[in-house]
Amino acid sequence: MLNGLKNLEYRGYDSAGIAVSENGAIKLYKRQGKLANLENEASLQKVTSNTGIGHTRWATHGIPNETNAHPHISGNVTLVHNGIIENYNELKAFLLDKGVTFNSQTDTEVACAYINYIYEEMKQHFNEENLKLKAILKACSDFRGSYAFGIMFKDEPNTIYATRKDSPLIVGLSDDGNFIASDISAILEYTKRYMLLDYMEIAKISTDTVTVYNEKLETIDKKINEATWSATECKKNGYDHFMLKEINEQPIAIKDVYKRYFENQDENYDKVDFSKYTNINIVACGSAMHASLVGKYLFENYANIPTTVDIASEYRYKKQLLTPTTLVVIVSQSGETADSLAALRISKEKGATTLAIINAVGSTIAREADITIYTHAGPEIAVATTKGYTTQVATFGCLAMNAMKQKNIQTEFNKEKIEFDKIDKILTSVIANIEEYRKIAKYLSDKNDIFFIGRGNDYNMCMEGSLKLKEISYIHSEAYPAGELKHGTISLVEEGTPVIAIATEKELYEKTVSNIKETKARGAFTILISTEEFKDTYTEDFADIALFLPTTTTFNEGIVVVTALQLIAYETAKLRGCDIDKPKNLAKSVTVE
Ligand code: G6P
Repeated sequence: MLNGLKNLEYRGYDSAGIAVSENGAIKLYKRQGKLANLENEASLQKVTSNTGIGHTRWATHGIPNETNAHPHISGNVTLVHNGIIENYNELKAFLLDKGVTFNSQTDTEVACAYINYIYEEMKQHFNEENLKLKAILKACSDFRGSYAFGIMFKDEPNTIYATRKDSPLIVGLSDDGNFIASDISAILEYTKRYMLLDYMEIAKISTDTVTVYNEKLETIDKKINEATWSATECKKNGYDHFMLKEINEQPIAIKDVYKRYFENQDENYDKVDFSKYTNINIVACGSAMHASLVGKYLFENYANIPTTVDIASEYRYKKQLLTPTTLVVIVSQSGETADSLAALRISKEKGATTLAIINAVGSTIAREADITIYTHAGPEIAVATTKGYTTQVATFGCLAMNAMKQKNIQTEFNKEKIEFDKIDKILTSVIANIEEYRKIAKYLSDKNDIFFIGRGNDYNMCMEGSLKLKEISYIHSEAYPAGELKHGTISLVEEGTPVIAIATEKELYEKTVSNIKETKARGAFTILISTEEFKDTYTEDFADIALFLPTTTTFNEGIVVVTALQLIAYETAKLRGCDIDKPKNLAKSVTVE
């Protein structure tokens, strides 16, 4: 169980706990901070048990401490929970009124106490089988919000019950025991076989049996899936960090995205008929939203389709102006991001066709969208996404090329133009430039504020580069359209403030150079990131340092530049001694609103 939790450590957490059944009793072990604190717990070393539930918590309700850590216990019920019970205050008031007491500040303890309350009530009135299943389902029908629960009962200590709504949960099956986990990567070293639970389904699990029930408590046959990811793919394989390993996996991952498109290996591309859509609405969070901005650039500039990009957490609370000819595109590495999932559901409800661009096979968004195109980047463990983002950008490139084809727009973009045969070598050479990135990182590592500027698609790269840097190095940085900086923010530029300018577009190059000069005139230390075709134009009077990357097509330029920016962020964070794969306060998969 501790191993399973360790495999999910990358998702970010601030406390951990497990409950195990031993000699007919349920024992609880919890610790604040890293899993190692829990592992070192002396009494835990002596436990012999084959049934338990464990959890790493990323605090939402209540500070990260031992009391608020899961599992929680209330009467007969012990439980771990991912998600948020939104009406927990209401339920807590109800339970307090009934004399129930609470130890923690969490919504989870309320859920635990509520299930216990319903179970005890039912026990007094009914004397039938399946009372626990009934109690859990009844309690869940009163919960608002999201949950994936692993539940144990004191009076049946060798059984685990599991159910979910909106938060991910899988049931792993093996000859040596059965598992529940929020992600297959937790248990890959024990089994590749798993079932996905749907809303209002509940699993009853013991070491040798798994039974899944629907809400009418009928047993149901669930499809058994076989994971395509292997346990070794989830290891560092000699790299210092997962982030570095994943950056190095990009040449192959990007080539594979193009290969699937050019060699017609993914029929889902042709399921999207762009000639039918008058506009595209892309919705995503974080880096996936940044990849979406590149998607917008490509759809508008090459396929002439008006495209908007919305941040998923804003989407459901604004007016969605969808028409029957709007294509809604949801982009998500994990396929489980709560806000992106909500955006998908609203768009479907309103009748739009939905396309999902997803990495995690079988994830909720992938299953619920009308059409899903997988990026097949493989498992991404570092919290800061790298190959997740670049494979999304490459997928948008393929979709834009297909849109041009379907709309009979003259397109020069073909296999040759996209440098299909060379893209892996180009990216490998970009990654090999490590000394250049170290040089820049050395300059950045002791600074407090850094600005990224660029125009057009270069600005989209600035946004991702800036996010990468602040995520893992904790240096404040901001991305600005190069021409916008002087409308206020340039007041923050002081002697030595680093300004990183991305300039790769021919039509915009000179304009960006003028903007770099404006910052240099105010004392900025300017770093130009451009492509080899502009090398001859470089003089030290506008850029203190310059980095020239291989010139390639617009479709790949973003991937090339962002790969360099990922490595600059990586080297900077390394110099600052940061926990690169698990940056503080962040979570890999944000399954709460
Ligand atoms: C979190 C991660 C980001 C990611 C975002 C969206 O904030 O830390 O790296 O870009 O979620 O995640 P998704 O899985 O939907 O792409």
